[in-house]
Amino acid sequence: MKKRMKFSIILLAAGTGKRSGLNYNKIFYKIHGKSLLDYSLDYFINCEDCVEIILVVNKSDESLVKKMYSSMVGKIVLGGLTRQESVQQALKHVKEEYVLVHDSARPFINGRCVDDLLGALVDYDAATLGMQLKDSICKTDGNRLEKTLNRSDYMLIQTPQAFKKSLLIEVHRLAKKDGFTGTDDTSLVKQYSDQPIKIVKGDVRMHKFTTLSDLDYLKVIL
Ligand code: CTP
Ligand code: MG
Repeated sequence: MKKRMKFSIILLAAGTGKRSGLNYNKIFYKIHGKSLLDYSLDYFINCEDCVEIILVVNKSDESLVKKMYSSMVGKIVLGGLTRQESVQQALKHVKEEYVLVHDSARPFINGRCVDDLLGALVDYDAATLGMQLKDSICKTDGNRLEKTLNRSDYMLIQTPQAFKKSLLIEVHRLAKKDGFTGTDDTSLVKQYSDQPIKIVKGDVRMHKFTTLSDLDYLKVIL
């Protein structure tokens, strides 16, 4: 039988969802009567290998989240100004040796992806979901195309991402010291360690709610 890791999950919900244009944190947006946060929470509450949930929230949502979720999750902790700072805060509370980090703004979770990430942790200390590009990709100045790139050299990165806790703590420490901010956690592993990062196949449905135009798609897949 394949070895399976027990893990803690850091569930990120401490943003404000500025790009969504909503006047509240986008992770509370409801689809079919359930908030985006609830979709992720339900998955990890029911995931046998997930032994600890650390929910990261911002100051303005804290009291509401504590009222709603205290009985369901192990820890509710305050995040920081950036996603990276939110992960850093949460890492102080992780008790397992292995940790997954997930954007609660991605409500659909494919269990096969989580299984594959856990499987990757047998041989790797860091793993991410990656998706091949279907469209062409170019470098641009924001207005004009500067160079069309080789599509097969690039991938789209999704969460969850999976790590050995000690590695993630160390690269976050070095990034903070350096003033480096990445858009995800594997970028810190790449920048501040020699550890290889396994890419496992993501799922197009694990889409992130960023702007309102993402909602039509999410409503269909959920
Ligand atoms: N996040 C967080 N702490 C922050 C910023 C983001 O925990 N300081 C979380 C968000 O709640 C989200 C995930 O990180 O689940 C991915 O970030 P993003 O999609 O950028 O969400 P927001 O930062 O909330 O949105 P925006 O950038 O449009 O303001
Ligand atoms: Mg953001």
